[in-house]
Amino acid sequence: MKIAMVGTGYVGLVSGVCFSDFGHEVVCVDNNPEKIEKLERGEVPIYEPGLDDLMAKNVDAGRLNFSRDLEASVAAADAVFIAVGTPTRRGDGHADLTFVYAVAEEIGRALSGYTVVVTKSTVPVGTNEQVKKIIAETNPDADFDVASNPEFLREGAAIDDFMRPDRVIVGAQTDRAREVMQDVYRPLFLRDYPILMMDLESAELTKYAANAFLAAKITFINEIATLCERVGADIKLVSKGMGLDGRIGNKFLHAGPGYGGSCFPKDTSALARIGQEHAVPMQITETVIKVNDEVKRRMIGKIEDICDGSFNGKTITVLGVTFKPNTDDMRDAPSLTIVPALIGGGAKVRVVDPQGRREGEALLPGVEWLEDTYAACKGADALVVLTEWNEFRALDLKRIAASMASANLADLRNIYAPTDAKRSGFLNYVSVGR
Ligand SMILES: NC(=O)c1ccc[n+]([C@@H]2O[C@H](COP(=O)([O-])OP(=O)(O)OC[C@H]3O[C@@H](n4cnc5c(N)ncnc54)[C@H](O)[C@@H]3O)[C@@H](O)[C@H]2O)c1
Repeated sequence: MKIAMVGTGYVGLVSGVCFSDFGHEVVCVDNNPEKIEKLERGEVPIYEPGLDDLMAKNVDAGRLNFSRDLEASVAAADAVFIAVGTPTRRGDGHADLTFVYAVAEEIGRALSGYTVVVTKSTVPVGTNEQVKKIIAETNPDADFDVASNPEFLREGAAIDDFMRPDRVIVGAQTDRAREVMQDVYRPLFLRDYPILMMDLESAELTKYAANAFLAAKITFINEIATLCERVGADIKLVSKGMGLDGRIGNKFLHAGPGYGGSCFPKDTSALARIGQEHAVPMQITETVIKVNDEVKRRMIGKIEDICDGSFNGKTITVLGVTFKPNTDDMRDAPSLTIVPALIGGGAKVRVVDPQGRREGEALLPGVEWLEDTYAACKGADALVVLTEWNEFRALDLKRIAASMASANLADLRNIYAPTDAKRSGFLNYVSVGR
């Protein structure tokens, strides 16, 4: 099977590489010339564990190519995937479909022979119908079907998620399109991973419903964490007690500084808009968005508390600024709310992040980037754990506390035990929900 993947970001590149590993002939297309040049040189433009090796293996096998030529790539393909960004549209919070529709038009002009045009990007209900209309208007003779195939991979574990998915969702309107999609996912189908065939609208909505539900789960536990602090309960124990209930499950029950990232903020916002447009307000999702903003702001207050109520003139070391560990993605990371508030209050901020600097330099102006955590803590007035990279989980707290000007720790991911922090010499230790 010949596949063209349009958009080689976190989703498109991982999907393209994994499809080639299934044995398909894949060309990954992007209109960003630097990205394609890098990929052609064998460099991976993003940080995703394991992606470089898998990409090299399939390039060497001759199944994986990169191109800026959308027309030729689409003309040769049996299935064309749209995996471009759908960021929040300025002003109204809706998904911005400019890139999806622009690509649909380009695909329309290039189609040759029967092709399935598959939207992998997260898109509002009705988008696939619109893609179909655009292609049909651009090229009335085109022989094609559309399909919706939302992606559920998590950055940082993307290859495993793609190769061993909980499920694959496919929305399609014809048997012919369903057969092509079954061929695309045959290796997973043969290994009994659930491939759910449904209509376009259900497939489109499944993605938003799943993300909004997960965002709600995180936000719920964050709200309970606030209550824990008031009533003297420990959120770690409460989460564990809840999570062992099979109906609830233990995932997404870790209290922290609020959700961020490339999906939850924009997808909750888009779902709220979809609800408003159809006169079915998504009241739970709307509240989740509001509470998550409050959670992020509450973290600023926590750091202020360990800084004697003022950031002015303080040196604060921040560990981790990406929205979660094992990715270099900074989109909507809580750090983008918290770090500017520290700087705005007059603090000098030092940052250590294993992968965040490349993206973060432009997004967090005025911070000092350091490689070594111990050097970054020397002489600081406060230490903030913002993203729980593995290398921050087993630090020598005694050494750090002794080297700081004032030993204060805000552990916003609850990776240390309060007793350990106190025993190691920290005068003030705050965490979330304990
Ligand atoms: N990042 C995730 O973890 C994740 C997970 C599931 C679903 N999604 C969804 O997948 C979609 C893509 O997300 P992403 O994080 O990979 O985005 P991204 O911004 O990392 O990548 C998008 C890519 O599309 C390219 N592009 C834009 N317009 C193009 C055009 N006209 N022709 C060719 N290439 C073009 C860009 O250059 C970029 O490389 C979004 O809808 C997102 O919601 C993302």
